Amino acid sequence: MALAFAVPHASQTRPVLQRWDVKASKPVTAVSGHSQALLAASTSAVALAACSRRRERLAKASISKTQRRAFFDFGSQPTKKTVVITGASSGLGLAAARELAKSGEWRVIMACRDFIKAETIAKENDFPKDSYLVLHLDLAANSSVRQFVASFRALNIPLDALVCNAAVYFPNAHKEGAFFPGLFPGGGPRWSADGHELSFATNYLGHFLLCNLLLEDLKKSSVKPARCIILGTVTASINDKEVGGMIPPVADIGRLEGLEAGMKAPVTMIDNGRFNGAKAYKDSKVCDVMLMRELHKRYHASTGVCFSSLYPGCIADTALFREHYPVFRFLFPILQKGVTNAYVSEEEAGKRLAKVVADDNYAQSGVYFSWGGESGTGGAGGADAVENVDASADRFLQYGSFRTLKESEIGGEAGDDERSKRLWSLSEKLVGQQFS
Ligand SMILES: NC(=O)c1ccc[n+]([C@@H]2O[C@H](COP(=O)([O-])OP(=O)(O)OC[C@H]3O[C@@H](n4cnc5c(N)ncnc54)[C@H](OP(=O)(O)O)[C@@H]3O)[C@@H](O)[C@H]2O)c1
Repeated sequence: MALAFAVPHASQTRPVLQRWDVKASKPVTAVSGHSQALLAASTSAVALAACSRRRERLAKASISKTQRRAFFDFGSQPTKKTVVITGASSGLGLAAARELAKSGEWRVIMACRDFIKAETIAKENDFPKDSYLVLHLDLAANSSVRQFVASFRALNIPLDALVCNAAVYFPNAHKEGAFFPGLFPGGGPRWSADGHELSFATNYLGHFLLCNLLLEDLKKSSVKPARCIILGTVTASINDKEVGGMIPPVADIGRLEGLEAGMKAPVTMIDNGRFNGAKAYKDSKVCDVMLMRELHKRYHASTGVCFSSLYPGCIADTALFREHYPVFRFLFPILQKGVTNAYVSEEEAGKRLAKVVADDNYAQSGVYFSWGGESGTGGAGGADAVENVDASADRFLQYGSFRTLKESEIGGEAGDDERSKRLWSLSEKLVGQQFS
């Protein structure tokens, strides 16, 4: 068999065509010039085609290698359950991710906005290999939420729990200055990729979209019941009884006037009031509890998925307070440890959250789990919360160190059914998608 190749000849700039005896592995003729142009073109095409086939083969081999790696690690652990935790690169999310990843029973999908930070911190915390995967998610961009869901589905693994934990807090954003104008100025409102005030977008709206999109995956959970947990806070009013909810500025979402007006600049607040960074955070957290209740009402009976909220306790030294005045960041943990006894370490709070994800005692839907301060599970404690129900009042006048507020006990704005429904439909408008 003979093939032809265009090869350069030492004495010529124009290629010399050689016929090649494949069996003998040597050239059989050597001809040159334009008369062989046609043959040259056709033989070059053969060579190119061979080349491109080889490239294709290599590409396929490398894709299947990558896929094998991505799918193999998780697929080889069929008994492990899967939890997605948003904001797992810091504070509570990181502590819960560590607890679950090290339990050997869970694979943690760290849904984070800063990929490198998350990957680095997982390694620094000795997350066992194959117990976690970082996937990029920026809750302040609806398209990023959609991309995250597509990336998760490409892993082809079931989803057993979703933890909506990520949040931002800009307590001073509305201020001119801490002590006089100009000293520690707040910087005003910030905006998401879709043009909404950033704490509303990150803490609530991104999670609204994520929960709705991942509901399909939770329905296919390998363990029952699948769980969806949305972080709340005592400083947002949950039932108009908790002292923490009375600290100004008090959460107030009004009649959702800001949302009705489209929630884009110059509108910053859900009630369309004057911008206040601390209140924007609290308002977004009230919406998170309303979201949990709506999800419960719409989907729990038909899907079996359990939706709950959690106040993890006051974790006074997480990065949540990164935008607060340095003096506040210094004094707040001291106050919570020494005066109110409400301080909870990241580690302890992470254990609490991990329990709500994994422990049968917390497989309830429509409820709000809340821990108080000094009476057992806070800075003074560490004992399992469910064992501390008899504790007496703490200095926030909360009775019992651990409380489960049933759906009917969630009150105030968070318990307002009509407003929750309206919030749902206005949120659908903002993300441009209807869910039910
Ligand atoms: N700390 C407390 O005392 C306290 C009390 C009650 C409730 N909570 C709740 O607990 C949860 C965790 O707070 P924390 O104290 O652990 O705060 P944190 O340490 O600041 O953690 C917040 C996490 O959210 C992530 N995040 C922020 N914006 C994001 C975005 N656009 N997309 C994706 N992720 C984003 C952060 O990412 P980076 O790592 O990249 O910054 C970080 O990992 C929050 O829901 C908070 O409301 C906290």
